[in-house]
This record gives sequence, structure tokens and C-alpha cells, in this order.
Amino acid sequence: MRFGVVGTGVVGTGWAVRALSRGWEVIATDPSPGADVRLRSAVANAWPAVRKLGLYPDADPDRIDFVTSAAAVGEAAEFIQESAPETLEIKRPLLQAIDAASDPEVVIASSTSGLRPSLLQEGMGNPERLVVGHPFNPVYLLPLVEVVGGNLTSLPTIAAAKEVYGNLDMYPLLVRNEIDGFLADRLLEAQWREILHLVADGIANTAELDDAITYGPGLRWAGMGTNLIYHLAGGEAGMRHMLEQFGPALEWPWTKLVAPPLTEELIERMTAGTEAQAAGRSIVDLEQQRDSYLLSVMRALAAHGIGAGLVLSQREARILAASAPAPWLPGQAVPAPLELYRCRVEPDWIDYNGHMTESAYLLAAGNATDAVFRYSGIDESYRAGGKSFFTVETHIKFLREAAVDEALTFATQVVGTDVQRLHLLHTMRRAETGEAIATIEQMLIHVDMTASRAAPVESGPAAALAAVAAAHASLPLATDCRMGLR
Ligand SMILES: NC(=O)c1ccc[n+]([C@@H]2O[C@H](COP(=O)([O-])OP(=O)(O)OC[C@H]3O[C@@H](n4cnc5c(N)ncnc54)[C@H](O)[C@@H]3O)[C@@H](O)[C@H]2O)c1
Repeated sequence: MRFGVVGTGVVGTGWAVRALSRGWEVIATDPSPGADVRLRSAVANAWPAVRKLGLYPDADPDRIDFVTSAAAVGEAAEFIQESAPETLEIKRPLLQAIDAASDPEVVIASSTSGLRPSLLQEGMGNPERLVVGHPFNPVYLLPLVEVVGGNLTSLPTIAAAKEVYGNLDMYPLLVRNEIDGFLADRLLEAQWREILHLVADGIANTAELDDAITYGPGLRWAGMGTNLIYHLAGGEAGMRHMLEQFGPALEWPWTKLVAPPLTEELIERMTAGTEAQAAGRSIVDLEQQRDSYLLSVMRALAAHGIGAGLVLSQREARILAASAPAPWLPGQAVPAPLELYRCRVEPDWIDYNGHMTESAYLLAAGNATDAVFRYSGIDESYRAGGKSFFTVETHIKFLREAAVDEALTFATQVVGTDVQRLHLLHTMRRAETGEAIATIEQMLIHVDMTASRAAPVESGPAAALAAVAAAHASLPLATDCRMGLR
């Protein structure tokens, strides 16, 4: 996919990083002097975060074609995301220029935070292919994208935009009725106005108001929205009781939803307050900290299968499937050894000695074992049938250290297999020099998970594993094996 990015500020860069990490090519433009260099440097800053999220096989931060006009993006891209400044005066002529230059089948999406698409469509020759795709910062991590059609937007355009965003591992939320500010910003603005009032009235400063969220409600919001949370707040009787109990309080004049005047004094308080909170940390430092905790929160949510965590696990499964070797077919020659898995040493694999930590050797070897499974036809659908391999013994020889970011390759030998056992020997090497840095020997037992006992491997994978074992029978062992099939 050639993904077009028009406007490479904060949001356009975020789109570029998301598309590049998906393994797509980015065609970008921005009229500001030096934008090309700034885009590449911003992509480099964000890359460690998406690497932690997991990269698709062709992901490459350099696959950016920076062109000199929006029309040039229109000519070359298969989907175009406009992220220019938030004014109709800039966006309308820009969208018209993209429209005039591109194939009418190509969807043009605008990142606008609140301009209604019906307003943006005016003057376009093919207004039916204009849709709003409103993302959230950082665009390369947060899955939400609000999809909003205008009066003239066609249903196939909405469907195509949702498909592309889904393909980018996002959560496209269709805003069924076109309104100013869409959904999320309407909710956020209610709180934002209240913050400005509380600061303007001298009730609390910016740090205190942020504490009021991060130490409490903010933690809940990552996994459940306000409505479900309040349903729980009503106890056994749920939302009905919640409304009976706290409904009357809504009549009290707690909130002041009308915006306060944005006086110089208020601007000064907000700016000084947040500068004090930043305590000397630069925007880049803060962005890295934000990305890092967002990743941890998403990983934590993945374990519960909810919210952004669910999207993350789906992404990981898709990356695994996209990078997986094609399964062996009967009669095919088997490489000896198998070289199915490559990885890089992740920053959180590093221990206090500055080297890849012990558990990460096991983690990487586990991924290499998964690659052998896939090659043998053992994948999600096989496991859905209630059968899987369990590791019963592992023996690791740590031969050399590995440093952060080092590229590693795995050579795997199937030492033996029988009806229900599999004996593997992985050699982990530095990709650059081929030097062996560890050997990992594993014994696995095939299990019927419903019956909770060892069981024969199904015929297809059994034939694949037997073929690999036969092809590897004459390979010299990379190290002395401690285990064996007796
Ligand atoms: N910042 C956010 O949190 C956020 C979140 C969601 C959506 N948005 C929306 O994304 C859009 C961009 O916001 P941003 O925060 O990235 O702004 P930004 O100021 O960081 O970037 C805008 C970029 O557009 C470029 N530009 C100016 N005129 C242009 C033109 N004619 N053609 C192409 N590029 C042009 C500028 O040089 C700049 O690099 C806005 O519509 C905004 O509402 C912003």
C-alpha cells in the first residue's frame, strides 16, 4: 500500500509512523521549509515505540517518498490522509487540489479534529470520496480513529476507510451523525472547559487537576468508559441505582460548561503550571515517557482482552501470521537447519549488566519454536481444536552477550520426534557475524488440552515434523544434547 500523508506536523508524522510500521510505503508532502528532514527525524524518534509494539515484515522507517506538492501525493498514493492546519481556508483548497490530481477511486481522509466533512467537501469534484478519519495522539500508538461521513460521502468510502484503518490496526469508530467536534473531543472538551474554569477561579492549579485524573479516574478509563464504570458504581442494581442515588446531584450547579474567557492571566497560569509540571523535561523526553507508559498500559489491557489491549493482541497475531514461514507441504524439501525466526534485542530485554537478560533468551527461543510449529502446520486453528505442544524441559547454554538492538537469527534443528514428543535444538546467532551466542535445547510434549494428558500429534503436523527430523538426521549437532527420546 502507498499511503499518502499531506501535512507532516504532529499528526501527519504519527500517521506516517503507523503506516511505515505496518510495512507500507509513505508518500508525504508539507510546504514548510525543512519538513522532509523534520519528518525523518520525528519518525526516528517514534520508531523505538512502534518497534516495541511489533513491526510487520516490510516495516522500514526509510520507506518515505517526500514529494513537493499535494497533487504529487494525489497522483501516487492509494489512500490519502490530510493533516494540514485546522482551518477551512487551508483545508478546502488543499482537498480540492488532491481531488483534482488523484484517481476518483482513491479515498481522501481528513484528520480534522472538529470540522464537519460536509464543509470540507464543498468545491470538490468527487466529494463522495471525502471522509473524516480523526485520530488521537500519538497516532502510532492509540488505536482510536473516528470515522465521519459528510452529506455527500458515499457508503463505499466509509467502508473503505474503515478497512484501511482496521488494516493499520486501529479501532475505527463510526460517528453515525455528523456533528461538530465528533464524539471524543466533545467529551474531552467538557472536561477541558472545567479545567480552565477551575484554574481561572484559582481553585486548583494544573498539576492538582492532573493528579485528580491520573491517580484515579484515568486508570479506570483505560479499560472501561464512564458509562460502564458508573454502572459498577451503582452496586448490584447498576446504572439504575446509580442514577437514583446521584441523579439529584446533577441538578446542583457543580459544573460550568460554558467556556471561560481566555484572558492573558489564564493563559499565563495554564502555561506556567504545565511548565512547572514538566520540571525541565523537554517535549521529546515527555513524549518518550508517554509512549513507554502507554505501551505498558496497552500490554496490561491485552492480558484482559479489553480496549486498546485487544487491538494490540490482534496486531501481534497478524504480525506473527505475516512473518510466519509458509507451512511445509508434503514432498517439499526441508532446509537443514530451519532458519525461520529473526528478531532484534529489545530495550526491555536488557538487564542491569547492560546485556540481554536470561529470560529474554528463553522468550526469543520460544518464538523460534513457534515458527517451527507454524512451519509444521500447528497454528491458532490447530490449537483451537484443543491440541498443543507444552515445553517440559529447556537447557540453555549462554555463550556470548547480546546488546540492545542487535539483530539475531535462529537456526533450528529437529533432533528427534515421535508420536507425541519433539526434541529441538536452536542456535541463536548474531545476524551480522553469524557468531553463536546461545544454544537452547527443548523437549516438548504434545497435549490434548481437554483431557489434560499427552496425546499423539495429528497426522498433518506429524508428517511435517517427521520430514524435518529426517532431513536433519545427518546434521551435526550444534552442541552436546542433554536430553533424548528414549
Ligand atoms: N495535535 C493533535 O492532537 C491532533 C489530534 C487529532 C487531529 N488533529 C488534526 O490534525 C490536523 C493537523 O494537526 P497537527 O497537530 O499535526 O498540526 P501541526 O501544526 O503540527 O501540523 C500541520 C502541518 O501542516 C503543514 N501545512 C500547512 N499548510 C499546508 C498545506 N497547504 N498543505 C500541506 N501541509 C500544510 C504545516 O507545515 C505543518 O507541518 C488538524 O486538522 C488537527 O485538527 C490534531
